[in-house]
Amino acid sequence: MSGVLPDEEAAAGAAEAFAARFGAAPEGVWAAPGRVNVIGEHTDYNGGSVLPVALPHTVRAAAARRDDGRLVLVSAQHPGEDADVAVADLAPGTPGGWAGYPAGVVEQVRAAAAGGLSLLVDGDVPAGAGLSSSAALECAVALAVRDLLGLGWGPDDLVDVARRAENDFVGAPTGILDQSASVLCTAGHALHLDTRDRSWDQVPLDLEAAGLALLVVDSGTTHSHAESGYGERRRQCEEAARRLGVDYLCDLPGTDALAALDDGTDEGAVLLRRAWHVVTEDARVAEVVDLLRAGADPRGTGPVLTAGHASLRDDFEVSVPELDAVVEAALAAGAYGARMVGGGFGGSAVALVDAGAVEAVSAAVAERAGAPRSYVVVPAAGARRLQ
Ligand code: GLA
Repeated sequence: MSGVLPDEEAAAGAAEAFAARFGAAPEGVWAAPGRVNVIGEHTDYNGGSVLPVALPHTVRAAAARRDDGRLVLVSAQHPGEDADVAVADLAPGTPGGWAGYPAGVVEQVRAAAAGGLSLLVDGDVPAGAGLSSSAALECAVALAVRDLLGLGWGPDDLVDVARRAENDFVGAPTGILDQSASVLCTAGHALHLDTRDRSWDQVPLDLEAAGLALLVVDSGTTHSHAESGYGERRRQCEEAARRLGVDYLCDLPGTDALAALDDGTDEGAVLLRRAWHVVTEDARVAEVVDLLRAGADPRGTGPVLTAGHASLRDDFEVSVPELDAVVEAALAAGAYGARMVGGGFGGSAVALVDAGAVEAVSAAVAERAGAPRSYVVVPAAGARRLQ
Protein backbone atom coordinates (compact mmCIF):
# COMPACT_ATOMS: atom_id res chain seq x y z
CA MET A 1 0.00 0.00 0.00
CA SER A 2 1.27 3.43 -0.88
CA GLY A 3 3.34 5.41 1.59
CA VAL A 4 1.91 8.35 3.45
CA LEU A 5 3.37 11.83 3.01
CA PRO A 6 3.99 14.04 6.04
CA ASP A 7 1.44 16.89 6.16
CA GLU A 8 3.92 19.54 5.02
CA GLU A 9 4.98 17.65 1.94
CA ALA A 10 1.42 16.73 1.12
CA ALA A 11 0.36 20.37 1.39
CA ALA A 12 3.27 21.58 -0.71
CA GLY A 13 2.51 19.00 -3.40
CA ALA A 14 -1.14 20.01 -3.64
CA ALA A 15 -0.29 23.73 -3.62
CA GLU A 16 2.27 23.26 -6.40
CA ALA A 17 -0.10 21.24 -8.55
CA PHE A 18 -2.78 23.89 -7.98
CA ALA A 19 -0.42 26.69 -9.03
CA ALA A 20 0.65 24.75 -12.13
CA ARG A 21 -2.96 24.21 -13.15
CA PHE A 22 -4.53 27.55 -12.20
CA GLY A 23 -1.55 29.92 -12.56
CA ALA A 24 -1.68 31.23 -8.97
CA ALA A 25 -1.20 29.88 -5.46
CA PRO A 26 -4.26 28.46 -3.65
CA GLU A 27 -5.75 30.35 -0.71
CA GLY A 28 -5.27 27.27 1.42
CA VAL A 29 -4.84 23.50 1.56
CA TRP A 30 -7.02 21.20 3.67
CA ALA A 31 -6.82 17.47 4.37
CA ALA A 32 -9.23 14.77 5.55
CA PRO A 33 -8.45 11.10 6.24
CA GLY A 34 -9.99 7.78 5.23
CA ARG A 35 -11.03 5.39 7.99
CA VAL A 36 -11.20 1.83 9.19
CA ASN A 37 -13.89 0.80 11.58
CA VAL A 38 -12.64 -1.28 14.51
CA ILE A 39 -16.16 -2.63 15.15
CA GLY A 40 -19.76 -1.53 14.54
CA GLU A 41 -20.68 -2.32 10.94
CA HIS A 42 -24.09 -1.43 9.49
CA THR A 43 -25.13 0.02 12.85
CA ASP A 44 -24.83 3.66 11.76
CA TYR A 45 -28.18 3.82 9.95
CA ASN A 46 -29.81 1.73 12.68
CA GLY A 47 -29.33 4.15 15.56
CA GLY A 48 -26.36 2.20 16.93
CA SER A 49 -22.73 2.89 17.77
CA VAL A 50 -19.50 2.68 15.78
CA LEU A 51 -15.79 2.68 16.66
CA PRO A 52 -13.66 3.90 13.74
CA VAL A 53 -10.09 5.16 13.60
CA ALA A 54 -8.78 7.63 11.04
CA LEU A 55 -6.10 6.45 8.63
CA PRO A 56 -2.85 8.34 8.15
CA HIS A 57 -3.89 8.41 4.46
CA THR A 58 -5.67 11.61 3.45
CA VAL A 59 -7.28 13.46 0.58
CA ARG A 60 -5.96 17.00 0.20
CA ALA A 61 -7.92 19.90 -1.30
CA ALA A 62 -6.11 23.05 -2.50
CA ALA A 63 -8.62 25.76 -3.20
CA ALA A 64 -9.20 29.40 -4.11
CA ARG A 65 -12.20 31.60 -4.82
CA ARG A 66 -12.95 32.80 -8.37
CA ASP A 67 -15.04 35.62 -9.74
CA ASP A 68 -16.57 34.07 -12.84
CA GLY A 69 -19.22 31.93 -11.14
CA ARG A 70 -17.63 28.63 -12.18
CA LEU A 71 -16.70 25.58 -10.16
CA VAL A 72 -13.52 24.07 -11.61
CA LEU A 73 -12.54 20.67 -10.22
CA VAL A 74 -9.28 18.87 -10.90
CA SER A 75 -8.09 15.56 -9.40
CA ALA A 76 -4.59 14.15 -9.50
CA GLN A 77 -6.20 10.71 -9.32
CA HIS A 78 -8.47 11.34 -12.31
CA PRO A 79 -6.37 13.00 -14.99
CA GLY A 80 -8.40 14.14 -17.98
CA GLU A 81 -11.60 14.13 -15.93
CA ASP A 82 -11.68 17.80 -14.91
CA ALA A 83 -15.07 19.39 -14.37
CA ASP A 84 -15.92 23.01 -15.19
CA VAL A 85 -19.52 23.90 -14.32
CA ALA A 86 -21.39 27.10 -13.49
CA VAL A 87 -22.17 27.07 -9.76
CA ALA A 88 -25.74 27.98 -10.69
CA ASP A 89 -26.05 24.80 -12.79
CA LEU A 90 -24.95 22.33 -10.10
CA ALA A 91 -27.46 19.51 -9.75
CA PRO A 92 -27.24 15.76 -9.03
CA GLY A 93 -25.41 14.25 -12.02
CA THR A 94 -23.96 17.63 -13.08
CA PRO A 95 -21.08 17.04 -12.80
CA GLY A 96 -20.95 13.26 -12.43
CA GLY A 97 -18.10 10.83 -11.75
CA TRP A 98 -15.50 11.68 -9.12
CA ALA A 99 -16.42 15.40 -9.37
CA GLY A 100 -19.89 14.70 -7.97
CA TYR A 101 -18.49 14.39 -4.44
CA PRO A 102 -16.92 17.88 -4.20
CA ALA A 103 -19.70 19.38 -6.32
CA GLY A 104 -22.26 17.92 -3.89
CA VAL A 105 -20.65 19.94 -1.12
CA VAL A 106 -20.55 23.22 -3.08
CA GLU A 107 -24.13 22.78 -4.30
CA GLN A 108 -25.33 23.11 -0.71
CA VAL A 109 -23.85 26.59 -0.43
CA ARG A 110 -24.65 27.88 -3.90
CA ALA A 111 -25.41 31.43 -2.78
CA ALA A 112 -22.22 31.79 -0.74
CA ALA A 113 -20.18 30.14 -3.51
CA ALA A 114 -21.80 32.16 -6.31
CA GLY A 115 -18.47 33.75 -7.29
CA GLY A 116 -17.04 30.32 -8.06
CA LEU A 117 -14.24 28.12 -6.77
CA SER A 118 -11.13 26.39 -8.10
CA LEU A 119 -10.35 23.10 -6.40
CA LEU A 120 -7.51 20.68 -6.93
CA VAL A 121 -7.56 17.42 -5.01
CA ASP A 122 -4.85 14.87 -4.48
CA GLY A 123 -4.67 11.98 -2.09
CA ASP A 124 -3.39 8.60 -1.03
CA VAL A 125 -6.49 6.95 0.44
CA PRO A 126 -6.79 3.77 -1.64
CA ALA A 127 -9.95 4.04 -3.75
CA GLY A 128 -12.39 1.14 -3.95
CA ALA A 129 -10.79 -0.55 -0.94
CA GLY A 130 -13.62 0.20 1.50
CA LEU A 131 -11.50 2.80 3.29
CA SER A 132 -13.77 5.79 2.63
CA SER A 133 -11.80 7.73 0.06
CA SER A 134 -15.07 9.38 -0.97
CA ALA A 135 -15.83 10.60 2.56
CA ALA A 136 -12.26 11.92 2.82
CA LEU A 137 -12.80 13.85 -0.41
CA GLU A 138 -16.14 15.28 0.74
CA CYS A 139 -14.77 16.27 4.15
CA ALA A 140 -11.61 17.94 2.79
CA VAL A 141 -13.75 19.99 0.42
CA ALA A 142 -16.31 20.81 3.12
CA LEU A 143 -13.50 22.20 5.32
CA ALA A 144 -12.10 24.23 2.42
CA VAL A 145 -15.51 25.63 1.57
CA ARG A 146 -16.23 26.49 5.21
CA ASP A 147 -13.00 28.42 5.64
CA LEU A 148 -12.95 30.14 2.24
CA LEU A 149 -16.58 31.23 2.39
CA GLY A 150 -16.54 32.10 6.10
CA LEU A 151 -19.32 29.65 7.00
CA GLY A 152 -19.74 29.02 10.72
CA TRP A 153 -19.92 25.23 10.52
CA GLY A 154 -19.11 23.17 13.58
CA PRO A 155 -17.95 19.53 13.37
CA ASP A 156 -21.50 18.12 13.15
CA ASP A 157 -22.33 20.54 10.34
CA LEU A 158 -19.25 19.39 8.42
CA VAL A 159 -20.31 15.77 8.86
CA ASP A 160 -23.86 16.55 7.68
CA VAL A 161 -22.75 18.59 4.67
CA ALA A 162 -20.34 15.83 3.61
CA ARG A 163 -22.94 13.12 4.10
CA ARG A 164 -25.61 15.02 2.18
CA ALA A 165 -23.19 15.34 -0.74
CA GLU A 166 -22.93 11.54 -0.77
CA ASN A 167 -26.64 10.81 -0.14
CA ASP A 168 -28.38 13.54 -2.11
CA PHE A 169 -25.95 14.53 -4.86
CA VAL A 170 -24.07 11.29 -5.59
CA GLY A 171 -27.04 9.16 -4.56
CA ALA A 172 -25.41 6.63 -2.22
CA PRO A 173 -27.71 5.96 0.79
CA THR A 174 -24.95 5.70 3.44
CA GLY A 175 -25.05 6.49 7.15
CA ILE A 176 -22.74 8.88 9.01
CA LEU A 177 -19.90 6.53 9.95
CA ASP A 178 -17.39 7.53 7.29
CA GLN A 179 -17.84 11.30 7.41
CA SER A 180 -17.92 11.31 11.23
CA ALA A 181 -14.68 9.35 11.34
CA SER A 182 -13.02 11.67 8.85
CA VAL A 183 -14.03 14.83 10.76
CA LEU A 184 -14.03 13.76 14.41
CA CYS A 185 -11.23 11.22 14.86
CA THR A 186 -8.09 12.17 16.76
CA ALA A 187 -4.62 10.64 16.68
CA GLY A 188 -4.08 7.75 19.09
CA HIS A 189 -7.79 7.20 19.61
CA ALA A 190 -10.80 5.38 18.26
CA LEU A 191 -13.97 7.44 17.96
CA HIS A 192 -16.88 5.99 19.93
CA LEU A 193 -19.89 7.58 18.27
CA ASP A 194 -23.53 7.05 19.15
CA THR A 195 -25.21 7.65 15.80
CA ARG A 196 -28.64 8.03 17.46
CA ASP A 197 -27.94 11.13 19.57
CA ARG A 198 -24.63 12.05 17.89
CA SER A 199 -22.72 12.03 21.18
CA TRP A 200 -19.15 10.76 21.00
CA ASP A 201 -16.02 10.25 23.00
CA GLN A 202 -12.44 9.36 22.17
CA VAL A 203 -11.22 5.97 23.34
CA PRO A 204 -7.43 5.77 23.74
CA LEU A 205 -6.03 3.08 21.43
CA ASP A 206 -2.32 2.66 21.83
CA LEU A 207 -1.78 -0.77 20.31
CA GLU A 208 1.94 -0.24 19.98
CA ALA A 209 2.32 0.00 23.76
CA ALA A 210 0.61 -3.40 24.01
CA GLY A 211 2.97 -4.88 21.41
CA LEU A 212 0.15 -5.07 18.90
CA ALA A 213 -0.61 -3.80 15.42
CA LEU A 214 -3.79 -3.23 13.46
CA LEU A 215 -3.22 -4.62 9.99
CA VAL A 216 -5.44 -3.49 7.13
CA VAL A 217 -5.62 -5.93 4.23
CA ASP A 218 -7.06 -4.89 0.87
CA SER A 219 -8.85 -7.90 -0.59
CA GLY A 220 -8.51 -6.31 -4.02
CA THR A 221 -12.18 -6.96 -4.79
CA THR A 222 -15.02 -4.54 -5.27
CA HIS A 223 -18.17 -6.29 -6.33
CA SER A 224 -20.49 -4.56 -8.73
CA HIS A 225 -23.54 -5.12 -6.51
CA ALA A 226 -21.98 -3.18 -3.61
CA GLU A 227 -24.38 -0.27 -4.02
CA SER A 228 -27.58 -2.18 -4.66
CA GLY A 229 -26.70 -4.66 -1.89
CA TYR A 230 -26.13 -1.82 0.58
CA GLY A 231 -29.46 -0.17 -0.26
CA GLU A 232 -31.27 -3.50 0.04
CA ARG A 233 -29.76 -4.17 3.49
CA ARG A 234 -30.79 -0.73 4.62
CA ARG A 235 -34.38 -1.27 3.47
CA GLN A 236 -34.49 -4.66 5.20
CA CYS A 237 -33.35 -3.09 8.47
CA GLU A 238 -35.98 -0.37 8.18
CA GLU A 239 -38.65 -2.97 7.48
CA ALA A 240 -37.56 -5.07 10.47
CA ALA A 241 -37.70 -1.99 12.71
CA ARG A 242 -41.15 -1.13 11.37
CA ARG A 243 -42.45 -4.64 12.08
CA LEU A 244 -41.05 -4.49 15.60
CA GLY A 245 -42.55 -1.05 16.24
CA VAL A 246 -39.31 0.84 16.86
CA ASP A 247 -37.74 3.77 15.02
CA TYR A 248 -34.36 2.05 14.80
CA LEU A 249 -33.28 -1.54 15.42
CA CYS A 250 -30.73 -0.40 17.99
CA ASP A 251 -33.57 1.06 20.09
CA LEU A 252 -34.23 -2.55 21.12
CA PRO A 253 -32.61 -3.45 24.45
CA GLY A 254 -31.41 -6.85 23.18
CA THR A 255 -32.22 -9.76 20.90
CA ASP A 256 -35.30 -11.03 22.82
CA ALA A 257 -37.84 -9.14 20.74
CA LEU A 258 -36.35 -10.27 17.42
CA ALA A 259 -38.04 -13.69 17.39
CA ALA A 260 -41.29 -11.92 16.46
CA LEU A 261 -39.82 -11.30 13.01
CA ASP A 262 -39.89 -15.03 12.28
CA ASP A 263 -43.43 -15.34 10.88
CA GLY A 264 -42.76 -18.55 9.01
CA THR A 265 -42.04 -16.80 5.70
CA ASP A 266 -38.67 -16.64 3.93
CA GLU A 267 -38.79 -12.87 4.20
CA GLY A 268 -39.34 -13.02 7.95
CA ALA A 269 -36.36 -15.34 8.31
CA VAL A 270 -34.15 -12.96 6.32
CA LEU A 271 -35.30 -9.93 8.36
CA LEU A 272 -34.54 -11.85 11.55
CA ARG A 273 -30.97 -12.54 10.42
CA ARG A 274 -30.40 -8.92 9.37
CA ALA A 275 -31.77 -7.56 12.64
CA TRP A 276 -29.82 -10.14 14.64
CA HIS A 277 -26.59 -8.89 13.13
CA VAL A 278 -27.41 -5.25 13.87
CA VAL A 279 -28.43 -5.75 17.49
CA THR A 280 -25.54 -8.09 18.32
CA GLU A 281 -23.06 -5.85 16.47
CA ASP A 282 -24.13 -2.89 18.56
CA ALA A 283 -23.48 -5.01 21.67
CA ARG A 284 -20.04 -5.90 20.29
CA VAL A 285 -19.17 -2.20 20.05
CA ALA A 286 -20.06 -1.78 23.72
CA GLU A 287 -18.02 -4.87 24.62
CA VAL A 288 -14.90 -3.64 22.82
CA VAL A 289 -15.23 -0.13 24.27
CA ASP A 290 -15.65 -1.55 27.79
CA LEU A 291 -12.55 -3.73 27.39
CA LEU A 292 -10.44 -0.85 26.10
CA ARG A 293 -11.71 1.60 28.71
CA ALA A 294 -11.03 -0.87 31.51
CA GLY A 295 -7.41 -0.97 30.40
CA ALA A 296 -7.69 -4.69 29.61
CA ASP A 297 -5.22 -6.34 27.23
CA PRO A 298 -6.49 -5.33 23.76
CA ARG A 299 -5.87 -8.92 22.64
CA GLY A 300 -9.15 -9.66 24.40
CA THR A 301 -11.02 -7.71 21.73
CA GLY A 302 -9.83 -10.14 19.03
CA PRO A 303 -12.57 -12.75 19.42
CA VAL A 304 -15.20 -9.98 19.41
CA LEU A 305 -13.88 -8.74 16.07
CA THR A 306 -13.93 -12.25 14.64
CA ALA A 307 -17.49 -12.77 15.89
CA GLY A 308 -18.38 -9.54 14.07
CA HIS A 309 -17.05 -11.02 10.85
CA ALA A 310 -19.05 -14.23 11.25
CA SER A 311 -22.17 -12.12 11.81
CA LEU A 312 -21.55 -10.01 8.70
CA ARG A 313 -20.88 -13.17 6.71
CA ASP A 314 -23.71 -15.41 7.94
CA ASP A 315 -26.49 -13.11 9.14
CA PHE A 316 -26.02 -9.83 7.27
CA GLU A 317 -24.56 -11.62 4.23
CA VAL A 318 -22.34 -8.80 2.99
CA SER A 319 -18.99 -10.61 2.97
CA VAL A 320 -17.50 -12.25 -0.11
CA PRO A 321 -15.24 -15.32 -0.40
CA GLU A 322 -12.17 -13.11 -0.92
CA LEU A 323 -12.75 -11.34 2.41
CA ASP A 324 -13.53 -14.60 4.19
CA ALA A 325 -10.25 -16.00 2.86
CA VAL A 326 -8.30 -13.01 4.19
CA VAL A 327 -9.90 -13.37 7.62
CA GLU A 328 -9.25 -17.12 7.73
CA ALA A 329 -5.64 -16.76 6.57
CA ALA A 330 -4.96 -14.02 9.12
CA LEU A 331 -6.43 -16.07 11.97
CA ALA A 332 -4.53 -19.18 10.89
CA ALA A 333 -1.33 -17.12 10.89
CA GLY A 334 -1.88 -16.06 14.49
CA ALA A 335 -4.09 -12.94 14.41
CA TYR A 336 -6.08 -12.44 17.63
CA GLY A 337 -9.08 -11.34 15.63
CA ALA A 338 -9.99 -10.36 12.08
CA ARG A 339 -12.99 -9.02 10.22
CA MET A 340 -14.10 -7.34 7.04
CA VAL A 341 -14.65 -3.58 7.36
CA GLY A 342 -17.07 -1.13 5.79
CA GLY A 343 -20.16 -1.81 3.73
CA GLY A 344 -19.00 -5.18 2.37
CA PHE A 345 -19.23 -6.91 -1.02
CA GLY A 346 -15.46 -6.42 -1.30
CA GLY A 347 -12.98 -3.93 0.13
CA SER A 348 -10.69 -4.47 3.08
CA ALA A 349 -10.36 -6.49 6.27
CA VAL A 350 -8.56 -5.70 9.53
CA ALA A 351 -6.56 -8.08 11.67
CA LEU A 352 -5.29 -7.56 15.22
CA VAL A 353 -1.82 -9.06 15.37
CA ASP A 354 1.30 -9.09 17.51
CA ALA A 355 3.65 -6.38 16.27
CA GLY A 356 6.23 -9.07 15.66
CA ALA A 357 3.81 -11.08 13.53
CA VAL A 358 2.98 -8.35 10.99
CA GLU A 359 5.24 -9.79 8.33
CA ALA A 360 4.12 -13.37 8.83
CA VAL A 361 0.42 -12.43 8.70
CA SER A 362 0.95 -10.16 5.67
CA ALA A 363 2.74 -12.99 3.88
CA ALA A 364 -0.01 -15.44 4.81
CA VAL A 365 -2.84 -13.27 3.47
CA ALA A 366 -0.84 -12.60 0.32
CA GLU A 367 -0.11 -16.26 -0.28
CA ARG A 368 -3.26 -17.94 0.91
CA ALA A 369 -5.83 -15.28 0.12
CA GLY A 370 -4.19 -13.50 -2.82
CA ALA A 371 -4.22 -10.16 -0.99
CA PRO A 372 -0.74 -8.68 -1.38
CA ARG A 373 -1.56 -5.16 -0.15
CA SER A 374 -1.61 -4.89 3.63
CA TYR A 375 -0.25 -2.30 5.98
CA VAL A 376 -0.19 -1.29 9.62
CA VAL A 377 -2.52 1.50 10.70
CA VAL A 378 -1.81 3.79 13.61
CA PRO A 379 -4.93 5.84 14.54
CA ALA A 380 -4.35 9.26 12.95
CA ALA A 381 -5.82 12.76 13.08
CA GLY A 382 -9.14 13.90 11.62
CA ALA A 383 -9.77 16.62 9.02
CA ARG A 384 -7.60 19.72 9.31
CA ARG A 385 -6.22 22.75 7.54
CA LEU A 386 -2.65 22.18 6.32
CA GLN A 387 -1.81 25.55 4.86
C1 GLA B 1 -20.33 2.14 4.38
C2 GLA B 1 -21.23 3.33 4.67
C3 GLA B 1 -21.29 3.64 6.16
C4 GLA B 1 -21.61 2.38 6.96
C5 GLA B 1 -20.72 1.22 6.53
C6 GLA B 1 -21.10 -0.07 7.20
O1 GLA B 1 -19.00 2.45 4.69
O2 GLA B 1 -20.75 4.46 3.98
O3 GLA B 1 -22.24 4.66 6.39
O4 GLA B 1 -22.97 2.05 6.87
O5 GLA B 1 -20.75 1.02 5.13
O6 GLA B 1 -20.84 -0.01 8.57
